[in-house]
Amino acid sequence: MAFYYDQPSRTFSEYLLIPNLTTKACIPDNVQLRTPITRFRKGEIPFLQMNLPMTSAIMQSVSDHNLAIALAGCGGISFIYGSQSIAEQADMISKVKKYKAGFVDSDSNLTPQHTLGDVLRLKARTGHSTIAITENGQSNGKLMGIVTSRDYRENQMSESEPIAGFMTPRQSLVVAMEGVSLAEANETIWQHKLNCLPVIDKEDRLLHLVFRKDHDSLKEHPLELHDSNKQLIVGAGINTRDYKERVPALIEAGADIFCIDSSDGYSEWQAETIRYLKATFGERVKVGAGNVVDREGFLYLAEAGADFIKVGIGGGSICITREQKGIGRGQATSVIEVAAARQEYLDKTGIYVPVCSDGGIVHDYHIVLALAMGADFVMLGRYFARFDESPGRKVLIGGSFVKEYWGEGSSRARNWHRYDHHSETKAGKLEFEEGVDSFIPYAGRLKDNLDITVSKIKSTMCNCGALTIPELQQKARLTTVSSTTIVEGGAHDVIQKERSSQGMAQGR
Ligand code: IMP
Repeated sequence: MAFYYDQPSRTFSEYLLIPNLTTKACIPDNVQLRTPITRFRKGEIPFLQMNLPMTSAIMQSVSDHNLAIALAGCGGISFIYGSQSIAEQADMISKVKKYKAGFVDSDSNLTPQHTLGDVLRLKARTGHSTIAITENGQSNGKLMGIVTSRDYRENQMSESEPIAGFMTPRQSLVVAMEGVSLAEANETIWQHKLNCLPVIDKEDRLLHLVFRKDHDSLKEHPLELHDSNKQLIVGAGINTRDYKERVPALIEAGADIFCIDSSDGYSEWQAETIRYLKATFGERVKVGAGNVVDREGFLYLAEAGADFIKVGIGGGSICITREQKGIGRGQATSVIEVAAARQEYLDKTGIYVPVCSDGGIVHDYHIVLALAMGADFVMLGRYFARFDESPGRKVLIGGSFVKEYWGEGSSRARNWHRYDHHSETKAGKLEFEEGVDSFIPYAGRLKDNLDITVSKIKSTMCNCGALTIPELQQKARLTTVSSTTIVEGGAHDVIQKERSSQGMAQGR
C-alpha cells in the first residue's frame, strides 16, 4: 500500500524566525558566514570552506566564467554548467583559474584594417571604449595599437576611415611585459597617467589589459575565495554518463570541486559515479551529489561518499517538474528532514556532510531560513541570472531592462543528461520539458546586490542572537505562519508611495 505523509510539505514563505536575545556583541560586523562545502570528520577542518554561504546554479543562463570570477571574488563558488562540450567547459574553468584580479582579457578587439564605423559599432555593443588593435583581431594577437574615444572625433571623421590612420600605434604605447605584478603595473599606470596598460609577451602578443579603475576595485574583495596559489576557486557540474572523460579534463583545467547535476539524485547512477571518482582519483576529488528531498535520499548519497548533498526538487523559479511529472516536495520541509538525517549520519559515523538548499529562494530572507533549517549553503539560479556578469542577454522590454533566464530542462538548454536517467530509447533527446525560458528583471552588478543581501542575512542573524551559521542552526526558533500572517507581513492598509528602487530590486 502506498505511504502517505500526514502533513503537507511546506515552502520557505510559510515560516518566520522568532528573535532571540541580541547581546551587545551581536552586531553585523561580528557575524561571519564561513561555511563548509566538503564532508569532514567532527573536530577536523573541512578540506574546502566558503566565505559566503552561496553558490550559483549549474545552468547555462547562470554560471559561466564571468559569474564564477565575480562570485569567487565575494567568497562563494560557481559551478560552471556541464551542458556543453568537455572542451568548452574546461576552457571556462581554466579562464577562472588563470584570472588574476586586475589583469583582464581584452574582449573588444579589431585589426588595423577595420574602420571607425567598426569601432563605433563594437563600442555600442560592449559598452567598452578601449579597443585593442591586434594583427588578427583576436584578444591574444600581436599588439598593433589601442583605440580609445580620445583617438577619434565621432561626427567629424568618415566612418570608413581605417583604424591604422587614427589608432595610438604600438611604438607610442607604454606597455608592461609578461610576469609584471599588479603592484608594478599600477605603479606604471600612475607614473605615466594611463587609463589602460597592455601586458604583452616577448613576441609582442597581447596577454592582458590592466585598467586604472581596477586598482581601486581590488580593495572591494576582502572575502575572495582562492586556493594556495592565489587562484580563484571554481566548481563544475558533471553528469552520470561521460564523467570518465569529463572529470579528468576538468581536473586538468583546474576545477576544485564537482557536483553531479540531476533533477533526481536518488539513483544508482549517482552512487556509481561517486564511487568511481573516489576510487580513481582518491579523496583529492571532491564531489557533491543530488538532488534529494528526504532522509532516505540523503543517507543513500552520504553512504556513497558524496562530499555535499543538494536538496530540492521542483522548487526552482523556472522549474515545471512538479507540473509535468508530479514529483517534488516543498523546499522547507525537504531541508528540515535532510538536515535531521545529516545529524543522524553525524551521530552514527562522526562525519559531517554539508547540505545545500537548491532552488526556490525568492526573497533574501529565504536564505537565512534555509541556513536556520540546517542548510550549510544555498544554490541560486534566478538570483544570479539578474546580474551583469551572468551569460543571458540584457534586453529592453516595455521601458525596463530584463535578462534572459532559461531552465536546464527547457528545450533551449537541451540538457538531456540532467533528466533522462540513462534511457537508451530516448537516444539523446528529451520527450518533454521540465523547465521554461523566461525573462527576469535586470539588477546590475553582482557585488552591489550581494552586499545588500549579505547585510540582510547578518542583520537577521543578529536578531536571532547568532554570530555564525552553526550558531544560527543551533539557536534558531521557527514558526509556521498562516496566510493572514503573510498578508500582515507586507505593507498593508496604507496607500504606498513609490518604494526606493534599491528596496524593490532586493525584494525579489
Ligand atoms: P532558482 O534559484 O529558483 O531559479 O532555481 C535554480 C535551480 O532550479 C537550479 O539550481 C536547479 O536545481 C533547478 N533547475 C534548473 N533548471 C531547471 C529546469 O529546467 N527544470 C527544473 N529545475 C531546474
